[in-house]
Amino acid sequence: MAATREHFGSRLGFILAAAGSAVGIGNLVAFPVAATKSGGGAFLLVYAVFVLFICLPIMMAELALGRTTEKDPVGAYRQLSGGSRAWRIPGWMALITPFMIAVFYLVLTVWILGYLIEVLSGNLNQLTNEAYFGQFINSKLIFVYLVLVMLLTNSVLAMGVKDGIERAAKALMPMLFVMLLGLVIFVLTRENSELGLKYYLLPDFAKLNAEVISKAMSQAFFSLSLGMGIMITYGSYLKKREAIPGAAKAVALTDTLVAFTAGLLILPSIFHFNPQIDTSTLSESSASMIFLFLPKIFLSLQGSIGYFGASAVAATFFFLVLIAALTSLISIVEVPLAALCDERGLSRKKAIYIVGVLQVILAGACAVSFGMVDWLTHFIHIAGSEKGFFELVEIVFYDTILPLNGLLVCLFVIYKWKRVNFNKALSQGDSSFSGSLSQKYVNFSLGTFIPVILLLVFLNTVALKFFGHSLI
Ligand code: TRP
Repeated sequence: MAATREHFGSRLGFILAAAGSAVGIGNLVAFPVAATKSGGGAFLLVYAVFVLFICLPIMMAELALGRTTEKDPVGAYRQLSGGSRAWRIPGWMALITPFMIAVFYLVLTVWILGYLIEVLSGNLNQLTNEAYFGQFINSKLIFVYLVLVMLLTNSVLAMGVKDGIERAAKALMPMLFVMLLGLVIFVLTRENSELGLKYYLLPDFAKLNAEVISKAMSQAFFSLSLGMGIMITYGSYLKKREAIPGAAKAVALTDTLVAFTAGLLILPSIFHFNPQIDTSTLSESSASMIFLFLPKIFLSLQGSIGYFGASAVAATFFFLVLIAALTSLISIVEVPLAALCDERGLSRKKAIYIVGVLQVILAGACAVSFGMVDWLTHFIHIAGSEKGFFELVEIVFYDTILPLNGLLVCLFVIYKWKRVNFNKALSQGDSSFSGSLSQKYVNFSLGTFIPVILLLVFLNTVALKFFGHSLI
């Protein structure tokens, strides 16, 4: 085991890496669509309130757990649980969850890489054929791309925290910001783009109901990489002299700004494509938006900028999504790696091989659950409908378990680790935190209404996903 823990080299490096984790496919596509369908500006407002008042304190709690213990989630919970075996369970959950989410996310990233390569090969027109997606995800090429994505991700991880994760984030995140802004500016100069802006931004408070509010909450929680053990792990690489509250705010702000800005791209493009579109018909699934709907929008640009221009725009977009996905993937694979190194004393290299092999097998099982392998395609019956292996992983780990993990973080920090210790950890590197209003708020909220809200979100998701009806 290494004698001293590796740290992020700078505050900015940490913020970019953590923001790279948080900014993902969901920010770029799911968020803008959800916002438009759920009250536009009104949804944005509710979302911002959740980020600020619910998610930020949880992020601080996760970062503090990691930084204090300088351990992976399993080690962090063990070290602070004072011998209680029950309290080690959340540590294991904060390891298994990211491991399985990584598997699921790998498959999405593989498809995105595949689509980028198709566009670059001049095949944008093919992608607009709806049947193509089904053929594509069932082609053997998927396995080649899977290996490619694994190589990309793990070659960054192999270089370690500072020279790998941090350096990649410092190179990729500015690129992501520039591409996103470039695309927004381009799209806003298209005809009818203002209609999209109108739908996205004008608040419609009548649309705010319990369901929308619950959706905003889970989207915010999920988008910020919470409940996945990532912030605990990244926190363990944060220097003691850095201020956790300030860093958490910067990460949350960056993630939210990127999600917001993505809306300035997606909605105007949709309305340029079809000014009469009924936004309630848009799919809320990122996958169906990215792979079925957006290619049509890109192709429609050929009227004004030609096929080559349209392909260039599409390629920029897929490249942008690929970067967002890769930086998230890197952060989430880091969790099991850290656990193997910290808990089992393995070298980083060995850990990468073990996790890599397991993930290729499981991601392979997900990838073939769309028809290639029968029993994985018809894997299980949930809530009266048949689900494949990929969908099962998505429902259990991506949709359901995260709020539960978040709930356990809050309870653990406040009632087991105790407020005094938590406050000490937050004040380290931030002398102004002690006695501040934020400190009072964070202490109060994490011990009271935040866990209650997470419990409600969790119960509602279980009811919805496993029993087929919403509680609200
Ligand atoms: N924000 C991500 C998204 O929008 C969700 C996410 C956060 C994520 N952290 C992650 C996904 C880590 C995969 C790995 O898609």
